[in-house]
Amino acid sequence: MSINLGNKELLLDSESMIVTETDSKGIIIFASKDFCKYAGYSYGELVGQNHNCIRHPFMPKIAFKNLWDTIQSGKKWSGIVVNQTKTGGYYWVKAMVYPSQNQDGTTKYISVRVMPTKNEIEDAIKLYKTIQ
Ligand SMILES: Cc1cc2nc3c(=O)[nH]c(=O)nc-3n(C[C@H](O)[C@H](O)[C@H](O)COP(=O)(O)O)c2cc1C
Repeated sequence: MSINLGNKELLLDSESMIVTETDSKGIIIFASKDFCKYAGYSYGELVGQNHNCIRHPFMPKIAFKNLWDTIQSGKKWSGIVVNQTKTGGYYWVKAMVYPSQNQDGTTKYISVRVMPTKNEIEDAIKLYKTIQ
């Protein structure tokens, strides 16, 4: 693909399971070991940050608007997302994001990400190029 997304692509393997949880505003309240590994941050650096700290500039704004509209209406969102690492690298994921509840009844959001296929990445690149 003839787009430059960053200085280094990290490839997930089929075992990778990247999980985060946020509060209702998108502030990270939990990050799995794999999330810290790929994003390149320590757990302590991530918890308390807005989830947009790993946003890659290639991702169209509308994708995240769609994500938030979907989860705030109580539904599950899935999509192919490219994220930026702390050192300017990038990694593609197949993400699922869904609402859940804390014990006190307040809303939290959970995201689980796995390895996307090559085709899924290529289709996402084509689509995102048209809606930049
Ligand atoms: C549970 C959850 C997981 C998210 N995961 C990501 C992610 O991996 N990468 C990302 O760029 N945005 C993710 N977002 C969306 C961000 O909250 C944010 O909307 C996005 O990065 C765009 O930033 P902006 O809303 O400040 O424009 C996630 C949101 C939620 C609720």
